[in-house]
Amino acid sequence: MKNWLGNKIKEFYPDVDFDVLMPPDERLGDYSVNLPFVLAKKNKKNPLDMGKEIIKKLTQDKEFQQYFSKIEFAGSGFINFYLADEFLWKQLLEIHRNRDLFGKSKEGNGKTIIVEYSSPNIAKPMHIGHLRSTIIGDALANVYEELGYKVIRWNYVGDWGTAIGKLIVAYKDLKDRIGKDGADEQFFGSDTTLGMMGNYVRYHEVYQDDDKARVEFKKLENGNKENVDLWKKIRKISLQELGILIYPSIGVDSKNMEFKGESDYEPELKSLIDGLISKGIAKESEGALIIELENLQPALLRKSDGATLYMTRDIASLEDRVKNYNPAKILYVVANQQTLHFQQLFAVAHKLNFNDPELVHVKFGMVLGEDGKKLATREGKVVPLLDVVNKIQEKARGLVKQVKLVNEEFNDDQAREIAKAVGIAALKYNDLSQHPYSDITFDWDAMLDFRGNSGPYLQYTYARLMSIIRQVDKIDDGDTGLLIEPTEIKIMKKLLDFPDVVIECSRLYTLNALALYLYELASASNQFYEKVRVIQDKNIKRRNARLLLIEATATVLKRGLNLLGIKVLERI
Ligand code: ARG
Repeated sequence: MKNWLGNKIKEFYPDVDFDVLMPPDERLGDYSVNLPFVLAKKNKKNPLDMGKEIIKKLTQDKEFQQYFSKIEFAGSGFINFYLADEFLWKQLLEIHRNRDLFGKSKEGNGKTIIVEYSSPNIAKPMHIGHLRSTIIGDALANVYEELGYKVIRWNYVGDWGTAIGKLIVAYKDLKDRIGKDGADEQFFGSDTTLGMMGNYVRYHEVYQDDDKARVEFKKLENGNKENVDLWKKIRKISLQELGILIYPSIGVDSKNMEFKGESDYEPELKSLIDGLISKGIAKESEGALIIELENLQPALLRKSDGATLYMTRDIASLEDRVKNYNPAKILYVVANQQTLHFQQLFAVAHKLNFNDPELVHVKFGMVLGEDGKKLATREGKVVPLLDVVNKIQEKARGLVKQVKLVNEEFNDDQAREIAKAVGIAALKYNDLSQHPYSDITFDWDAMLDFRGNSGPYLQYTYARLMSIIRQVDKIDDGDTGLLIEPTEIKIMKKLLDFPDVVIECSRLYTLNALALYLYELASASNQFYEKVRVIQDKNIKRRNARLLLIEATATVLKRGLNLLGIKVLERI
């Protein structure tokens, strides 16, 4: 509605930049526009006169007449708009009739957008930094799909670099000590990255620096067969683990991802570098090859030993994305720590005239523990993602057993499924409801609190609404004009905001507005449910109208939660 209003006023005043706000106090109207102030300043007139003129113009329009009960000038150069109840009643019926389409917009118009997220490094267990990227990126991709974009979910796997060299060294050490069969068994036998990781840790115990790893990695780059075979095995195990274990554990679909990682660009690096040299963009400096950038440290393309870098591959990948996918935008959902890297990458893109798509680094902060310090294992290491998932699942199971929320009986399998969905909801909502730039805290109990601002609270609210709907065979059209309670009006207004909130998320690259919106909608619906009778209402027409309201609320909660990557539960 907010966007609609802004666009509609623009039809009358195409060349003016003004704001549409939603006043916190409803006595000031549902929307407030600073157009009189802006126009008065521009035309050197008095805001009151401008306001009168604008209101006169707008109130002649049919839609304004239907949608608003009052449009009035407020001091300080604003015009306030008050939604008409008749309009709200009509809209509620609309939502009922168009459930699946409500809030869908054609904004994206089929334009392609690449959302790169998750991008874990193989050969190491995926950790919580990648958890944030996965959760945020997946939800953003959902939002863009909802808006009619063609979304490419890009998983830029880190499958190349010195880290692989370390594993190769560790494997070869093992082979020297216990022979090939033993080494294969110990190294690859468990078929998990954790199995390989033990050896990774050993590398650091034995070697103080990365020298040996670099040598083995260089051999891999030069196509040494033994190393290539080892790398292929390591990569295969890691990718399998991601697809079978990791992504399903956080309710993320990896089948719709395009896995195109760093190693895929290895064959192109030589010609990329040659091209950059011949264009005069890259130049030698102390044996290394660099690109000088304005106001930034130079981007390093090749070290003096000839090895290429993370940056080199990112440039090649960006070229691939721009040339072969023709995107309108490319988002990189990657932690704050890589800000400089992306500034450099985008500056290089500028030099290469890759500027057609908008390039955005969607940053996020760290995960902190309850003590406010960076979440770490007891030894001070990064926490593997599965540890976090297991912990929240365990807590969720305890909780679901303990609290019988909606008197339903479950068997063990059902209880486990519910606990899993509740745990994932807790993780994702905790992440997405906070501003991504800031560090987020893992307060396990608050994340799972069915009564607080949490994912499980929203799931619980949804299940509660569905339990009411299940009590009737079918929902009839009902006389929505009977919905006059303040809680009812409040919900109807909230429902109208949904499409605007989705668009806002897409523009700001954050999801906290949607999370907050869903929380407010859920709270309003719980207030409503406590105040009025629904099923027992003797007035059948009003009962039906209330059921419509409940159904619309449930629809929007479900749509919104699904955008956040959270599953709803019909029963809890
Ligand atoms: N694999 C990298 C890491 O774990 C993240 C990749 C980010 N994306 C990119 N295009 N550089 O740090």
